[in-house]
Amino acid sequence: MKPIKAGLLGVGTVGAGTFNVLRRNQEEIRRRAGRGIEIVMVSARNVAATTEKTGGQCQVVNDPFEVVDNPEIDIIIELIGGTGIARELVMRAIANGKHVVTANKALLALHGNEIFAAAQEKGVMVAFEAAVAGGIPIIKALREGLTANRIESVAGIINGTTNFILSEMRDKGLDFDTVLKQAQALGYAESDPTFDIEGVDAAHKVTIMSAIAFGIPVQFDKAHVEGISALQAVDIRYAEQLGYRIKLLGITKRAMVDGVEGIELRVHPTLIPAKRLIANVEGAMNAVLVQADAVGASLYYGRGAGAEPTASSVIADLVDITRLATADPGNRVPHLAFQPNQMTDVAILPM
Ligand code: HSE
Repeated sequence: MKPIKAGLLGVGTVGAGTFNVLRRNQEEIRRRAGRGIEIVMVSARNVAATTEKTGGQCQVVNDPFEVVDNPEIDIIIELIGGTGIARELVMRAIANGKHVVTANKALLALHGNEIFAAAQEKGVMVAFEAAVAGGIPIIKALREGLTANRIESVAGIINGTTNFILSEMRDKGLDFDTVLKQAQALGYAESDPTFDIEGVDAAHKVTIMSAIAFGIPVQFDKAHVEGISALQAVDIRYAEQLGYRIKLLGITKRAMVDGVEGIELRVHPTLIPAKRLIANVEGAMNAVLVQADAVGASLYYGRGAGAEPTASSVIADLVDITRLATADPGNRVPHLAFQPNQMTDVAILPM
């Protein structure tokens, strides 16, 4: 069978990682997907540099709309980020009948309802494992692995940059700005690191997990968001002396307030007893703790940022879509997280 053709928008850290892993593990990936996956066209700001980076394997263009409008392409991989042009491109790709893989948590947290409705209408798949917790397959775990459960809560360290900052400040006594620069140099931080530091990135991710865990629409605007910028070295030291670690957690759980059942959705620094597993998640690592009725507690741990961990999730989605797109459309497993007929109408509780 001929390879499935993908177009890539944006060749930054994750895009380059995707090329490397696809090339290195080509044979295994082809076997698992049932056919080859080829990135045939990419869009990038610097065409000459990207042509060199991709080893001249595919066509490099400047205009991303050329990629989404290319009738040869079956899957669009959106790695541009942000909610402006990325939204237009994803909506156009869907309108053109293409499947989409995206790592863009901001886009889904803000516009997921519109995007998933359009995808459902058009009968295409939108996959986004890389949008939450980098290389940890948490979307698959919540949607598939735990599908028999009533999920009670999801709580996690889901921003590598802030966890790295908190760990380095505690262990090495470094100051905030020095560690932030290191996180940027290591490719963990967002292009605007305010999103990391102020908890916005974690809020995007927990909004997406909340929608999947509880079958509700994405409601980022209702999340309580507090980052780590107000924390000082002295807070970290005092927490340590009292037997706690400070971690920035994204939390979503079922709760009851004044007799009203709803969902909490929040991000804030949290004191965690130092002996707990999640308190010992260090550096840019992520961990997500899920409480569910049948399985009990389960903890998912791994690299939440960086080129190849995130590429691992991008490619997992490519493989899933390739398998499903190759199957009879009538037999496709629904790959959309938020289907109107699966949603409940529980409200997000005000904080
Ligand atoms: N800036 C994000 C983080 C990248 O630090 O976790 C991965 O989403």
